[in-house]
Amino acid sequence: MKILGIESTAHTFGVGIYDSDLDRMLANPKAFYKAPPGQGMIPRVVAEHHGEHGARIVKQAMEEAGKNLAGKGAVENAGALSFDSLDAIAYSSGPGLGPCLQTGLAAASFLGQKYGLPLVPVNHCHAHIEAGRWQCEFDDPLVLYVSGGNTQIIVGTKKKGKTENKNSDSKSRNADSKNLIASDYGPPFRVLGETLDIGVGNLFDAFARELKMPFAHGSMVAKKAMEGKNYHPLPYTIKGMNFTFSGLLTSAGKLIGHADENDLCFSLMETAFAELAEGTERALMLTEKKEVLLCGGVAQNTVLVDKIKMMAALHGAKAGTCENQYNADNGAMIALTGARRLAQGKTIRAQDAQFDQKFRIDMVE
Ligand code: FE2
Repeated sequence: MKILGIESTAHTFGVGIYDSDLDRMLANPKAFYKAPPGQGMIPRVVAEHHGEHGARIVKQAMEEAGKNLAGKGAVENAGALSFDSLDAIAYSSGPGLGPCLQTGLAAASFLGQKYGLPLVPVNHCHAHIEAGRWQCEFDDPLVLYVSGGNTQIIVGTKKKGKTENKNSDSKSRNADSKNLIASDYGPPFRVLGETLDIGVGNLFDAFARELKMPFAHGSMVAKKAMEGKNYHPLPYTIKGMNFTFSGLLTSAGKLIGHADENDLCFSLMETAFAELAEGTERALMLTEKKEVLLCGGVAQNTVLVDKIKMMAALHGAKAGTCENQYNADNGAMIALTGARRLAQGKTIRAQDAQFDQKFRIDMVE
């Protein structure tokens, strides 16, 4: 089956196309909204961006999928994939910014009604986890989900009775066995720990704005942090497996102008990541999982990935994350999770489509 997935929860309008028979991602183009210097995202403005670029990205995805299926020799003459060959349209139904979610829903609903296709609502966090499981070939991982708006430690539910040989060479698994692995994992999800104020990505975004960076994005803070050498003690707040980051942001902000900026970025990042590693370690010891999956936009940060890998190794667990294109918001993960949900019959009619800005992962049924 082929599923087109639309992502539009925040800054990214992405369209992915996944073929579950081939277990192959056929396309994953996206348009990314960049806020002007010193500004955050204004939801209505970001939604306008999505509305402006949406049709182009859908077209691009259909063209890329057509070329991908035609194979190398026929790429030049390959036409776009036809909408008739799709089986469903999946879309991000939350959590996210209301106007942005509305734009993605409108696009999905339009395509569903025009081509007579069912819709599959997908929880954005669930999609990050499925993308990670798919790429890392993890069965039942402890998840550290780190993005702009979310920071959570999560476990899903592995159905009993359907097992696969964990000792088998992962590369030898075919599409059928992968689909089996996919089908026996899912909701209910439990959130073992989470941020009690801002997401760790927002911590970096907000600090980048305080530093008046031209492109105020967390990745710029990470870049400067790599040049930092001296650690300035900052508030380290963790209780059980829950975190807070706003005190850290305020204290680091007060040091701007009094300390080297690279050192401040380094100190901010090290403190936040140490909190994440401590909380995840506690969860790992509690759950005794053998896999730790990092996912979400901040999982692109190699310093965090290395920290979690070292921590997991101490407990005999392996840790991994996916390629950057799947950790950053993208339509591919929505298409992939849409395929899993479609197989479970979780479809709705296009005219019944809704979104929920506060759709937590532990609300997924
Ligand atoms: Fe995300």
